[in-house]
This record gives sequence, C-alpha cells and structure tokens, in this order.
Amino acid sequence: MLVPDEDEHHKRDRDRTEAVIRISSTAVARVSVVTGGNKGIGFEVCRQLASGGITVVLTARDETRGGDAVERLNALGLSQVVFHRLEITEASSAAALAGFLKTRFGKLDILVNNAAVGGVEYGQELDANEEKFDGLDFHQRVEWMLKNAREPIDSAKNSVQTNYYGTKRVTEALLPLLRSSPDGRIVNVSSSYGLLRHIGSEEVRQELNDVDGLTEERLDELLEKFMEDFESGALEPHGWPGKFSAYKVAKAAMNAYSRILARRHPELRVNCAHPGFVKTDMSMGSGVLTPEEGARSLVKVALLPDGGPTGAYFAQGEEAPFV
Ligand SMILES: NC(=O)c1ccc[n+]([C@@H]2O[C@H](COP(=O)([O-])OP(=O)(O)OC[C@H]3O[C@@H](n4cnc5c(N)ncnc54)[C@H](OP(=O)(O)O)[C@@H]3O)[C@@H](O)[C@H]2O)c1
Repeated sequence: MLVPDEDEHHKRDRDRTEAVIRISSTAVARVSVVTGGNKGIGFEVCRQLASGGITVVLTARDETRGGDAVERLNALGLSQVVFHRLEITEASSAAALAGFLKTRFGKLDILVNNAAVGGVEYGQELDANEEKFDGLDFHQRVEWMLKNAREPIDSAKNSVQTNYYGTKRVTEALLPLLRSSPDGRIVNVSSSYGLLRHIGSEEVRQELNDVDGLTEERLDELLEKFMEDFESGALEPHGWPGKFSAYKVAKAAMNAYSRILARRHPELRVNCAHPGFVKTDMSMGSGVLTPEEGARSLVKVALLPDGGPTGAYFAQGEEAPFV
C-alpha cells in the first residue's frame, strides 16, 4: 500500500481547503444594496439584479412601501430579495443598515445609490400621469417640466441634503463592507442635469472638475455658498443654474465626490450613471423611457467586467465626459 508522506498529506489538505474556498466564494451570491428601491428606477434595479442571481437588500425609508415592494419581487420567484429600512438622510439609519449587512453577509459587493428627490414642486392640480404627454416629443416634455416646476427654498435644501449629503452618508457607512468584498462597486445614480455644463460659473466648473485638487471640505463650502446665493436670490449672477438648480448642483457635487472616492479607493469601482429621461414619479410621468429601460443601463454599470473603469460617468450605459 502506498502511504503518502506527511508533506504530501499537508499539501493535499491545503489543496482541498483552497478548492473549498474557491467554490464557496463563487457559490455565495454577490450581495447588493439599492437605496430607494420601493418604486421607479430603484425597484427595477432590484428586480434586474435579483434576476441575475444577486442577493438584493431592497431599502426604502418607509417600511410598508419597502415591504410591499419586496413582496412583489418575492412573488415573481425572486426569493433572494430582502428588505431593510433606510432613510438616507439619517446617520443612525445608515449605521443600522451597516450593522445588519455585517452580521448577515459580512460584506457588500454592490451599492446602488439610487434614492433622490427632484427638489421641485408641481401644482396641486398636476398629477403624475403619462397620458397627458402622448404626442409630445422629448424636448416638449422637458419644456413641460421646466414650465411647471417651482423650486421653494425647503425643496432646494432637501435636495442638497438628500441627493448629496444623504448619498455620501450611506456611502461612508457602507464603505468598510464594500472594502471587505473582493470586487466592491458603487453606482451613484446621477443625471445629465449633474453635468458641469449646467453651471455657468467657469470658476466653479473648473473646481468641480479638478479631481486632484478638490476636497470634500471644499465641496461643503461650495454647497454652502450655493444655498446662501439661493436664499438671497443671487443664483444667476453667481453662475449657478436657474431651473432645477439644487438638483443640478447636488448631482454635480455627487459626481465630484464619486471621483474623489474613486481616487482614494482604487480597490473599488466607483462610477456615476445617468439612466436617461424615465417615466417615474420624479419626472411626473413625462419621461421617454420605461423604468425597466432606465434601470438596465444602471445595472450594466453595476456589472461591468472586472478591472473596468472607475471614477467615470456613464450616460445610458456608455462612458461619457463629466462636462
Ligand atoms: N426619472 C428620471 O427621468 C431621472 C433622470 C435622471 C436621473 N434620475 C435619477 O434616478 C434615480 C431614481 O429616480 P426615479 O425617477 O426612480 O424617482 P422616484 O420614482 O421619485 O423614486 C425615488 C426613490 O427615492 C426614494 N427616496 C427619496 N428620498 C429618500 C430618502 N431621504 N431616504 C430614502 N429614500 C428616499 C423614494 O422613496 P419614497 O417612495 O419614500 O419617496 C423613492 O423610492 C434618482 O437618483 C434620480 O435622480 C432620474
């Protein structure tokens, strides 16, 4: 009988152990978190990720709306979708989600920062129905939005607090878990409205585009200055956007933050993605794409092949400049 010597035993044990680790790391599904997953584009991102075999933590600020959304996905056979509450403007809520992920999965592979507000109000008489846009082309629909949207100060403040600071807060809370993944990815859902071309001030544009020189502290200062100019009615003289101004500035700041983060964490893929003009509550149903189509391009960015770009902007799935 051939008795393998001790070294041979050890080698076989090690090979077996490594094989088990390889099998289990591929067998354990990737884990994703989607913010604002209860409706619109976020709901569709959850559905598409889960359909691809990825475990999805669908988050929403409202337990009932979030729970209902999970039930709808579970009823489609997508049993790997679970719910966790997340109000992105609350640090304690982001910390509770991080605690849940750590205990349940020990890591996070994909974070889709989708939750946002439009930062505008529409008249009471207007409801989000798509039929009134039948026969209107893309530009006429955008015109309708520009004509009917008002931007009260509270909505503007909420837009900056949610779309920039909320996204940043969630990202910071989940960063250690993303770094525990062998392939951590962040998709910050952006907008063509966040492109630098919407900011009239050449100086601000340059600062936001100077990823090497820009800091988070400077971003805070710029946003503070923006809010001061908003309150004193001095947006246009200082080169800030006039319509959807807080939404545009908050998304531009989020893009800049994504680029800072991508440089700081080369081990992660941190990208921004614009879904296109989508029929959802945010657009009052005026968009030209379905949520399914909008979500598809975000999921494409979330699932880019290994070693793909980081610190980049994607417009409907294709890499494009931040300007
Ligand atoms: N629709 C478009 O044409 C378009 C174009 C460009 C970019 N985008 C971007 O696409 C993303 C999704 O937008 P959408 O069109 O799907 O909008 P939506 O239908 O209005 O959905 C927004 C989602 O964000 C959630 N949310 C808002 N504030 C939150 C908070 N503080 N904490 C947690 N969740 C919060 C909402 O929850 P509630 O249901 O509780 O309010 C909802 O689930 C956004 O980032 C948006 O800026 C949309």
